[in-house]
Amino acid sequence: MPNWDKIYKAVNKGGQKWKDINDGVMPYCFTEDINPLFVNFIAKTKFKNKSVFDIGCGEGRYLIYLSALGWQTDGVDSSQTSVETTKQALGDKAGSIKKADMFNMNISPNKYDLIISISTINHGFKKDLSKLINQVHEALLLEGKTFITIPDKKCINTWRTFKKHRMLDDNTAEPLIGPEKGIPHGFYTKQEIEEMFAKFKNIKMTADKTGQWLVVATK
Ligand SMILES: C[S@@+](CC[C@H](N)C(=O)[O-])C[C@H]1O[C@@H](n2cnc3c(N)ncnc32)[C@H](O)[C@@H]1O
Repeated sequence: MPNWDKIYKAVNKGGQKWKDINDGVMPYCFTEDINPLFVNFIAKTKFKNKSVFDIGCGEGRYLIYLSALGWQTDGVDSSQTSVETTKQALGDKAGSIKKADMFNMNISPNKYDLIISISTINHGFKKDLSKLINQVHEALLLEGKTFITIPDKKCINTWRTFKKHRMLDDNTAEPLIGPEKGIPHGFYTKQEIEEMFAKFKNIKMTADKTGQWLVVATK
């Protein structure tokens, strides 16, 4: 299994960044930019407590953005290196930023206004993803929202990272070349995603230009 920590360690030493790894195919996911649809979503939505939990926070891009807007920031990532980078960037405003496997962790129930996961939650198999989405529902406050990106099924044939890949099941593929070689990526139709978010209300899905579904839903 390829090691995310190794990728972040290399970035810290001036190595290849996400945007280069993906050859610019997924600009909003891998540059320092925050997806403009996220910026718009935050600007237009009222939140009671401004408490956020980021699943797969990476180097903290989204938490740093939200922290500057006065949010309390918690998150997890499987890479210790990226957890340290995030903590350092957030400084004394950092909440609980921990190394954890998103498919084997507890999130306190009824705690957050917002739970986000950008280009992360699909790194597993459908049953794990569905379980985690249900856990997200439990962890949100009533009327809390989630903003999660999940790649559309057609991306398997359009993303350059997947030029050479092998299917692990109906929804999951692993690239056979490049730095993300061997990392499982899940791809889903709109209908499959709606089914996984069945516990939520007001499910809104927008396809961004990279082919990812941006899923916004309310508890
Ligand atoms: C493509 S990066 C996105 C990072 C961040 N969300 C961003 O947009 O900058 C995917 C992230 O998911 C993390 N990740 C992958 N599998 C994970 C798991 N099982 N549990 C927690 N984090 C995981 C990786 O370490 C990596 O930081």
